[in-house]
This record gives sequence, C-alpha cells and structure tokens, in this order.
Amino acid sequence: MNKIIDLRSDTVTQPTPAMREAMYRAEVGDDVFGEDPTVNRLEELAAEKVGKEASLFVVSGTMGNLVSIVTHCQRGDEVIIGDQAHAFYYEVGGSAVLGGLPFHPLPNRDGMLDPGEVEAAIRADNIHMPRTGLVCLENTHNRQGGVALTPAQMDSVIRVARRYNVPVHLDGARIFNAAVALGLDVRELTRNVDSVMFCLSKGLSAPVGSMVAGDKDYIQRARKYRKMVGGGLRQAGILAAAGIVALTEMVDRMAEDHEAAQLLAQGLSQIKGLIIDPQKVQTNIVVFEVGSPGPSAQEFVANLAKEGVRVIPFGGRRLRAVTHYGIEKQDIFMALAAIRRIMAT
Ligand SMILES: Cc1ncc(COP(=O)(O)O)c(C=O)c1O
Repeated sequence: MNKIIDLRSDTVTQPTPAMREAMYRAEVGDDVFGEDPTVNRLEELAAEKVGKEASLFVVSGTMGNLVSIVTHCQRGDEVIIGDQAHAFYYEVGGSAVLGGLPFHPLPNRDGMLDPGEVEAAIRADNIHMPRTGLVCLENTHNRQGGVALTPAQMDSVIRVARRYNVPVHLDGARIFNAAVALGLDVRELTRNVDSVMFCLSKGLSAPVGSMVAGDKDYIQRARKYRKMVGGGLRQAGILAAAGIVALTEMVDRMAEDHEAAQLLAQGLSQIKGLIIDPQKVQTNIVVFEVGSPGPSAQEFVANLAKEGVRVIPFGGRRLRAVTHYGIEKQDIFMALAAIRRIMAT
C-alpha cells in the first residue's frame, strides 16, 4: 500500500525509534508525589531550555493553556487575547467553564496584537468593570499561517502589559519553530513573558505532552490546578522520556519541516485555482485557499484523501497542511502531484 501523506497536523502518528527506546527504558515513580525521576528531569530540562525557574508536564497544549491562564487569574478577571488565537478560538470554553474567565478578543493581524489596542482594552480600576487579569500572545500563530513573531514584536505588547502590571502568557505551542525560523535561542522569545506553554507533541514529535514554564511559585500553583483537572498522571515518566528526546534531539531538525513547507507553498502557488503567497509561509504551516469557482474546502479534502494525501479544512475555502518529522521532500512532490490531479478534474 502507498504511504499516506498525512499533513493534517504536526503531531506525528508514530514516535521516533529513539523515543520508543527511551520510553521502554524510562525510570519511573509516582509523579503525584513528585517521585518520577524522568518527569523531574524533563521539567528541569524544559525550564532550562526556555529560561524559566521551573516547569510542569501536562498532557496537552489545551490543558497547558488552561492551567496557565487560571493560575494567573482570579474568577471574573478578563483575558485579553487575539480573536484568532488557539486559546480563544478553540479553547475559550475551558477557561469560561472552569475558570469563570471572560475573554476580551482583539483583532489578530499577521499573528500580532496591536499594542495600542491592547492598552485601550486594559480596564481601569472601576467597580463597573472586570479586572484585566492577563494578556495572551501566540507564537508561532497557528490560524494565521504559522507566522513567527520576533522578540521586538512580542516586547511591544509585553511593555504595555507591564506598564499596567498585567502578566503575559505565551501560547508557544510551536515556539521552537519560531526560534528555528528566526535563527534565535528560544529564550529570546520566552524571556520576557511570565509563563509559556509549549507542545512536545507537535514539531518536536513526541507522542504526548506539553510543558508550562514560569517562576517557581507560579509553577507550584499551576501544579495544583493541573491536579484539579485530572492531570496527576502517576508514572508519567513513560511519556516524559519521549519529551526529553524531543527537546534534546528534535529541535534543530525542524528547519527541514520549514523547507518542506516552503517547497509545498511554492508548488501550490503554481497550481491554477489555488491561492497562496509563499512568502507568508515562514515555518511548518501552509494555509492556502481554493479559488471560486472550484471545489469547496470539504470536497477538496475528500478528493485529496482518495489520493492518499490528508489536509484539513481551515474555515471558508481555506485549507491547512502542516509538515513534520517523517514528511520528506519526495512526499511533498507526491502531494503536489495529487493536488494537481484533483484540481484538473
Ligand atoms: C497554537 C496552539 N495552541 C494550543 C494548541 C492545543 O494543543 P493540543 O492539541 O495539544 O491540546 C494547538 C493545537 O493545535 C495550537 O495550534
């Protein structure tokens, strides 16, 4: 059977052989008592990588953002966030239901928030209004095509938040993609935020897991919220072992994913009926549009799946393809050939 070229997300469908081996050999204990040596090692390593005092292993990016946000805020506080941010667009239910936190969305443009609009959205100390509890940034920005924010862009928003003593949380699900694309140490992007969540299970290729990092006191409080939402995982070292491989062996190779994404974007831009500006593709996410007249996004996905290539509809006539470990140049050429075929029929 031909290989399925799965570009639906950067979560790979199989762990790398080195991860399997590390999981098999992982020394474990009960993490709820802080006694899993492999989880402890991962938490130290992750904190060190992003330049924070401490970190916490969580099962997913969604759990990581939820725990991060509720740890910063008190019930009823308002969270300023981009209207296209993952933590708003897909996850607002968690913070609303479990945190009692209203969100204040502002327009996202190329992954950014406008610092002036953030300042205008921060509430005055007034009994008529909620307190502003948090500002959230996202880097790279999923719904806006994987764009990588620079430290200067991030700092322009962080400075405003600081002026009003509002903490900043970074949804850095793909922060290592941003660092690799910008040619920076990831700490340049995480240094000035109060907390960062990043995923081990996306471009870093681990089977499960994300990390939340911040100062010691914050992570201690976050640990309590993680337990509340069922995140005390006992012998989690089995999973953390793969996370350690992800952080030590899988960061630099993401440059290959970015090259593959660029190759895909260039190829798509040559196909009649598709709309994409390859210059906007900076990392591993390729968002493109099927022009009208032409198949709907759902028809495109279904037709392409029959050819063994999987992408997802991404709102309206847009589609998303994501490159990752296991996707080689050859796969991109095959995917492009399949897309050419379905667009020609
Ligand atoms: C930017 C961003 N944040 C958070 C998440 C949530 O991560 P998870 O799927 O591990 O819950 C995603 C998932 O795609 C994401 O793209």
